[in-house]
Amino acid sequence: MSFIVAIDGPAGTGKGTVTKEIAKKLNLINIDTGSMYRCVTLACMQKGILPSQIDKIQEVLNDIEINLENKSCIQKVFLNGKDVSKEIRTPEVDALVAKFAAIKCVRDKLTPIQRKMGEENNVIMEGRDIGTVVFPNADVKIFLDCSVEERANRRYKQNLKKGIEESYEEVLSSIKERHKLETERKIAPFVKADDAILVDTTNMSIDEVISKIEEIIQNKRNNCSNVC
Ligand code: DC
Repeated sequence: MSFIVAIDGPAGTGKGTVTKEIAKKLNLINIDTGSMYRCVTLACMQKGILPSQIDKIQEVLNDIEINLENKSCIQKVFLNGKDVSKEIRTPEVDALVAKFAAIKCVRDKLTPIQRKMGEENNVIMEGRDIGTVVFPNADVKIFLDCSVEERANRRYKQNLKKGIEESYEEVLSSIKERHKLETERKIAPFVKADDAILVDTTNMSIDEVISKIEEIIQNKRNNCSNVC
């Protein structure tokens, strides 16, 4: 049986960085499920399909192939064979992805793929519904949180480094809008699982968050090996 760590949290909590580092340290496969929702969004955008055009979205889903490749814990994302690791992180995709992620046929397509990935490997899987829907019986569940201003600040700085030009106010407003859509959607809304451990990263450095989560996982692994 595989060992599954579920990390759920909103945009800008440092989830991606933290997950990558922990995967490296603890020899787990890192799976960023948000990148899969981004691929569906990009595939639809490329065909000019809007979130309201469910039949057309279903057609895209019928043919879509998404592959996540992990090399030295760097995840590359392939959409229908093409490396789209950068293209899926533009402000244009940011602006639409929460709408596509709220659509039933999109989640119905991606959730089983994510489950299969977790069943075949020891994974650390990050997203919004990993501890509630994808793996409600995950071995470890972490819920990362952070104030919205700090999240926008972090994302703004990340964007600057990547050469993405977006003002702090634009980032803040986009993050707030996405959060509303993610928490209020009917299917798999973004909520903390009752048994997830809350880690508030607002006043923590990335290194502190990594150590904290590593400690939680190691404790769980030790308990498990004592009992099992
Ligand atoms: O983590 P991220 O910002 O790359 O996620 C992109 C979008 O996908 C975001 O709107 C939340 C959504 N998402 C989701 O609904 N369920 C997941 N398991 C992962 C991401």
